[in-house]
Amino acid sequence: MTSEFQHLIDLSDYSVSWWQKVVELGEEIKNDPEKFAHECDGKIMATLFYEPSTRTQMSFQTAMIRLGGQIIGFDNPANSSVSKGETIKDTTKIVSNYADILVIRHPLAGSAKVASLTADCCVINAGDGGHLHPTQTLTDLLTLKIEKKTLSGLTIGMCGDLINGRTVHSLCKALSVFSDNKFVFISTPELGMPAYIKDIITANGSTFTEVNTLEEAIGELDVLYMTRIQQERFASVEEYLAQKNTYVLDRKKMQLAKKDMIVLHPLPRVDEITVDVDSDPRAMYFTQAKYGVYVRMALIMTMLREKKSSETLRGKIYKNVRCDNPRCITNHEEYLPKSFRTAGGTLLECEYCDERKLI
Ligand code: NCD
Repeated sequence: MTSEFQHLIDLSDYSVSWWQKVVELGEEIKNDPEKFAHECDGKIMATLFYEPSTRTQMSFQTAMIRLGGQIIGFDNPANSSVSKGETIKDTTKIVSNYADILVIRHPLAGSAKVASLTADCCVINAGDGGHLHPTQTLTDLLTLKIEKKTLSGLTIGMCGDLINGRTVHSLCKALSVFSDNKFVFISTPELGMPAYIKDIITANGSTFTEVNTLEEAIGELDVLYMTRIQQERFASVEEYLAQKNTYVLDRKKMQLAKKDMIVLHPLPRVDEITVDVDSDPRAMYFTQAKYGVYVRMALIMTMLREKKSSETLRGKIYKNVRCDNPRCITNHEEYLPKSFRTAGGTLLECEYCDERKLI
């Protein structure tokens, strides 16, 4: 299936040079934002947020306003026709005729892809369930470029909820294509990085190790990426409580880290970084959130400038095969074509959420 518009659902749909171009433009904007104040005069961006958000939603809105454009949208689907049972397909189809660019966040994996199937404007994925979050990754890449001066040769620790954290999935996919990056996954076995992400890292030529404690890894890291335990993605409160408070970065653990290690976090923080770490010069998470506006300005400009079509579904459509992921959009919106890629032998991968199944 093709769309006459270009969409950002997964950074892997674009070349590395495209990401670098967006990040470089983000840096240029950071150094002189005024120069770009009229880039989007007369343009409208719609933000459809079916899930709570502070940074992503407001940084997208700020980005569009700073480019001279205007914004429409909702951040509480209960106030829209979604509450009357409208499908993503219909909502996005309608809104895409009111706007030039549509930014969507939704609790189900694959939802942004669904929006791109029918939208009559560009669609940007601002987080689809526990799956992907490409614009947080652009933010992280800009932060690394400015603060570490490189995207290669880094030892990156990722700590916390690696199974449900969409930010770390997108970031691993992106950083693993740059040379000599090493990942250290710090999590409990229950919250470990999904197998498909580990396979992508290996296929891209990067390496990873897995450990259980922050103490055993922190000393070797150039970057520590902390994440929140994603309470809303657990099947029960008991399962969440069993994982809560497992990893807490405090001043004592920071003493074990390199002098030039930086601490990133997509935020919001719950209790995984104590507030006394905030004054440590290596704590970069608030700066990171600020950089998110510049890189989103760069992304909006790039997508509106380039008039490209895109391929939306590339897999094979199966009539009688369902995705096994209960949080996949295809198990909630029945009309969707079930599209799978072959992942070797009899293994299929859902094109919406990347869940694998044997047939
Ligand atoms: C993250 C998200 O929504 O995935 N936040 C963000 O976009 N800045 C991380 C989180 O919610 O834990």
